[in-house]
Amino acid sequence: MNVHPLPSLDVVVTDRRSVADDIVLLTLAPAGGGDLPEWTPGAHIDLLLPNGVERQYSLCSDPADRSAWQVAVLRESAGRGGSEFVHALLAVGEMLRVRGPLNHFAFEAATHYTFVAGGIGITPLLPMIRAAALAGATWSLAYAGRSEGSMAFVRELRGEHPEQVTVYSSEAGERLALDELFAAAPAGTLVYCCGPARLLDAATTLAAGLGWPAGQLHQERFEAKETGAPVLADAFEVELEYSGMTLTVPPERSILDVVEEAGVLVLSSCREGTCGTCETPVVSGEVDHRDSVLTPEEQADNEVMMICVSRAACAKLVLEL
Ligand code: FES
Repeated sequence: MNVHPLPSLDVVVTDRRSVADDIVLLTLAPAGGGDLPEWTPGAHIDLLLPNGVERQYSLCSDPADRSAWQVAVLRESAGRGGSEFVHALLAVGEMLRVRGPLNHFAFEAATHYTFVAGGIGITPLLPMIRAAALAGATWSLAYAGRSEGSMAFVRELRGEHPEQVTVYSSEAGERLALDELFAAAPAGTLVYCCGPARLLDAATTLAAGLGWPAGQLHQERFEAKETGAPVLADAFEVELEYSGMTLTVPPERSILDVVEEAGVLVLSSCREGTCGTCETPVVSGEVDHRDSVLTPEEQADNEVMMICVSRAACAKLVLEL
């Protein structure tokens, strides 16, 4: 049994509106009334859509409002059909099952923040910006996108915080100079960055070049990171401590697939190492971490792993399953 079960609940779509080209903002309220579970800035939920697709969306509303959640959904025609379903078929009044919230992008206390958003990556940063402003911290937001019309919440952000928000529209020839932004960050700044892989990869490289300490740069990826060949080309064993089974994981299958096939219940969602749902404690053995959720420090700690993509870097892993 998974040791981090996530609650799921039924919600009803109480509002949907367009907030940018190809982006709809959904408001979801508990179907049975009452309060929704608590959450913190950076958290996401899984939408379990009637077409069988599960997709993760960052909560972008106010955590203090327990009556409803909001998520902004970008239509991705090359996706797995989740966003297409939401855009084409999910109407006000429809019921939906959701799971979570889960937070792998936790907002930490600091006196200054630099927020960097690329496109729909603005969504988890919105509640962080509110929290930073509420806490009296100083902050700035660099928000880059294809065009202003494609960038959700751009008018509100610029209207409410003209001093702190800088918008970069590539259509208008405006370019975000991440190197200058990072070099200008005052000591002790925490940087929260969310957007496409190339933005996050550039941020990682720059932070390393500047010698930033672990924990200064926080990122959330919507797309799986590029990973090279696994450490082990061969099969390996996985011992499940609670279930008392030892299973063999062949090179072409994931630990998650093998464990599920053996009848062990493990929660999962994205199955590509981006959502954190399948996080599993490691009892012993060296892990070949291949996920896009854990920080390099968390991966080095070797205490948990995402079994949908991560593998063994040794002959046998023992897991708390
Ligand atoms: S199922 Fe999403 S990280 Fe494994």
